[in-house]
Amino acid sequence: MASATRSLSDLPGPRRLPLIGNLHQMDTARMHQAMETWSEQYGPYFRFRVGRRELLAVSDSAAIGTILRDRPAGYRRTQLLETVFQELGIAGVFAANGDAWRAQRRMVMAAFDTRHVKSYFPFLARVTERFYRRLCAHARCGIEFDLQADLMRYTVDVVAGLAFGVDINTIESDGETIQTHLNHVFPMLNRRLAAPFAYWRWVRLPADRALDRHLEIVHREVSRLIGQARERLACNAELREAPANLIEAMLVESESPGAELSDEDVAGNVLTMLLAGEDTTANTLAWLMHLASREPAVLERLSDEAKGVLGASHYAERLETVSALKFTAACAHETMRLKPVAPILLLQASAPKLVGDVAIPTGTVVVALMRRGSMDERYFERPEVFEPERWLGTTVNERISMPFGAGPRICPGRNLALLEISMVTSMIFRNFEIKAIRTPDGRPVEEWLSFTMAPSPLLMTLAPRS
Ligand code: HEM
Repeated sequence: MASATRSLSDLPGPRRLPLIGNLHQMDTARMHQAMETWSEQYGPYFRFRVGRRELLAVSDSAAIGTILRDRPAGYRRTQLLETVFQELGIAGVFAANGDAWRAQRRMVMAAFDTRHVKSYFPFLARVTERFYRRLCAHARCGIEFDLQADLMRYTVDVVAGLAFGVDINTIESDGETIQTHLNHVFPMLNRRLAAPFAYWRWVRLPADRALDRHLEIVHREVSRLIGQARERLACNAELREAPANLIEAMLVESESPGAELSDEDVAGNVLTMLLAGEDTTANTLAWLMHLASREPAVLERLSDEAKGVLGASHYAERLETVSALKFTAACAHETMRLKPVAPILLLQASAPKLVGDVAIPTGTVVVALMRRGSMDERYFERPEVFEPERWLGTTVNERISMPFGAGPRICPGRNLALLEISMVTSMIFRNFEIKAIRTPDGRPVEEWLSFTMAPSPLLMTLAPRS
């Protein structure tokens, strides 16, 4: 281990103002970019201030990997994140710490293990077929559609099927869906996490009141999902012995003597899954479509692979088919290298720690800048170029690009997410041609951080492939 040579106060960092620190230099929707620019200026370890809170930013991939693997004992999700999530009724595995996290994580892992995802595949194929039919209708009329909104219909249906055993079918619903309301939660989470103080506990601004209304509707839907699962358990004793999905497993656990899970934990995890599984995968797919659409050679290879592997089928009907989509998977990895939907991760030291050569006291908040290593020429040749082929060889350094995090809290939904990305991408390139993909105002596509990093809204036009 390196010997401590510096403390937090020895580190360089941007000049701060009294009271607000560096807040004036960080637009909430672009704060990751501000931090990445500082990292270019000040190096892999620097400090900055949000209000009175002094934070350590780290962009060195090896140090980030060490921190992420030093959990749950060494680091936790921040106190602020846990409280903000709790206040919104989203106290699930993502925000939890300590023993509560351990109990929830075990259950979540069981629901997302490879065997379970495999047995769930027929449902995933059915949702993909539905999505195909929706896109066919768009393509037949040549209409421009809101790409992210449609992708989120897909991802929310998939997660609800896997985690809660229900087919909520937002793809075929017209009008308002649960996802319409979920969309309002992340931007507010981001805003509250970046706020200099918890103003919403004293004054409710219009945005906070709107959030309350959206959350009320979402919580009602969550109670409905829980109610349905309770009914299934009540009329099928075998299910109690072998719950078929996450919600059933959580309910059985919460009703057992000495339960480690409360009713709020069950509701919090339902909401966590919907949120964690929806935006992340949909935004990664939207980034993939945007990046690929600028590279004719990539478009051609994607469609050749989809036609070759899927043959006469409109979408992958078998899990084995998906494994053959090597170039499509490479596009997913390359997209996540350039556009990780979680470009920053916030952690808090649970004990005095050494980060690289910097000694930090207990309670220090560490911001891991997840993209700097991926853009470093030492690890990736021509790092700014979208080059999926680099993932087909054996030389790529997977420890540098960590879009799903690392260590004991690595994303439990990663296999499902990669499966969804390959299913949707191959279905689109097998059947359609991208006629146009643009922002509503014609301006270049930008990164918007609203807890996850989304591209600017994208309008897409498809044509049926002959
Ligand atoms: C492309 C899609 C996705 C990306 C890039 C992504 C990324 C991440 C990242 C970076 C983390 C934090 C990991 C860490 O702290 O080391 C995370 C955690 C998590 N993700 Fe994902 N995720 C994706 C899809 C999903 C899906 C589909 C689900 C579930 C349906 C999911 C559920 C979760 C949960 C529950 C956690 C919290 C784990 C814990 O704290 O123990 N994610 N994800």
